Amino acid sequence: MANERTVLRTRVGIVGGGPAGLMLSHLLARAGIENIVVESRDADTISTTHRAGILESGAVALLTDTGVDGRVLTLGDEHAGIDLRFNGESHPLDFRELVDATVTLYAQNEVFVDLAAARERDGGDVRFGSEVTAVLDLETETPKFRFTAADGGEFEVHCDLLVGADGSRSFCRRQIPESNRRDFTVKYPFAWFGILAEAPKSSPELIYANSPHGFALVSQRSETVQRLYFQCDPGEDVDAWSEDRIWSELQRRVDGPDGFTLKTGPIFEKTVLPFRSFVREPLSHGRLFLVGDAGHTVPPTGAKGLNLAFADVRVLFEAIDSFYSTGNAGLLEGYSDTALRRVWKAQNFSYWMTTMLHTPPDAEPFMLKRALGELDTVTGSRYGQQYLAESYTGWPHG
Ligand code: PHB
Repeated sequence: MANERTVLRTRVGIVGGGPAGLMLSHLLARAGIENIVVESRDADTISTTHRAGILESGAVALLTDTGVDGRVLTLGDEHAGIDLRFNGESHPLDFRELVDATVTLYAQNEVFVDLAAARERDGGDVRFGSEVTAVLDLETETPKFRFTAADGGEFEVHCDLLVGADGSRSFCRRQIPESNRRDFTVKYPFAWFGILAEAPKSSPELIYANSPHGFALVSQRSETVQRLYFQCDPGEDVDAWSEDRIWSELQRRVDGPDGFTLKTGPIFEKTVLPFRSFVREPLSHGRLFLVGDAGHTVPPTGAKGLNLAFADVRVLFEAIDSFYSTGNAGLLEGYSDTALRRVWKAQNFSYWMTTMLHTPPDAEPFMLKRALGELDTVTGSRYGQQYLAESYTGWPHG
């Protein structure tokens, strides 16, 4: 016998309880706008999934100014620059001096932990381990979705507005009719091999290295845990890589006459991260609105993923708030166009950083030399440095 379906009624239904969905839920709750968040994964899985860690100052402010938590200020590490390394030499970029801005290194899973705690503290309705099975009536004034809760209970949520914050494999995105959507995609012939290691910091700032052997990124997590990546084949098998092999591959990509040497230690996590640039247009259909990875994906080289998701959430929150306080849907209707302007800036920056720093497996030697010419142009002029610094630290929110 089929389980009976319980109907829940709310103003905003949010599918996806990662950082984007939870941040939107938090902002709406503060404005007195009732909402329900439904997420398929359990909270433990999300809080232990390692993702990028760079927050623009606007993203930090969204956490601290709205009372999520101040942990980002105490546990996060403010960075006033990065090093671009090529031809075996490091070229520091000082963001504070160039554009009067900094970024904060704070792992995305910690952002999730803070937001989940804030929603719980404030009595938010967030249902983890709950699978969305259908999205209905998007073109009406009462869009709906169905989900199966962690305990097997069946629910149908009736809302005024539905938000797809359900990540790069978004279920919501797929419910938009083909005639009303267009996807823009770039595939790359490489991926990143990411590790977490128990080791001291190798360098005070993050190092983005272009080398004939491929890209490497030296990032950090704490005084004792480091995060490093190197360009690899998308089909790479992490088990084929011993600790020694990983460290020597990373070292060879940062080698140079200055004798720079990575500080090594036991590796406790290895993953291959896929690489893709993707945008769905428009970011809305009827009363469904897509935010974050559900609507667009960037390669991690520019560290824009979470920042872009928060930028979408900020725009959508203001539109929803205006819809309820004035009854005017103008900002909601403009959501897609407004959010897409920043999305395409970030797409351009992420693509640019990626192509400038990586070595495609079958690249013409000309292209490798060209990329070095580009790095030399960027680091060799204040304008070039400022262009990168402004993009990396984040454009103003309009
Ligand atoms: C990270 O620390 O995981 C990280 C930092 C910068 C990036 C990407 C990832 O561009």
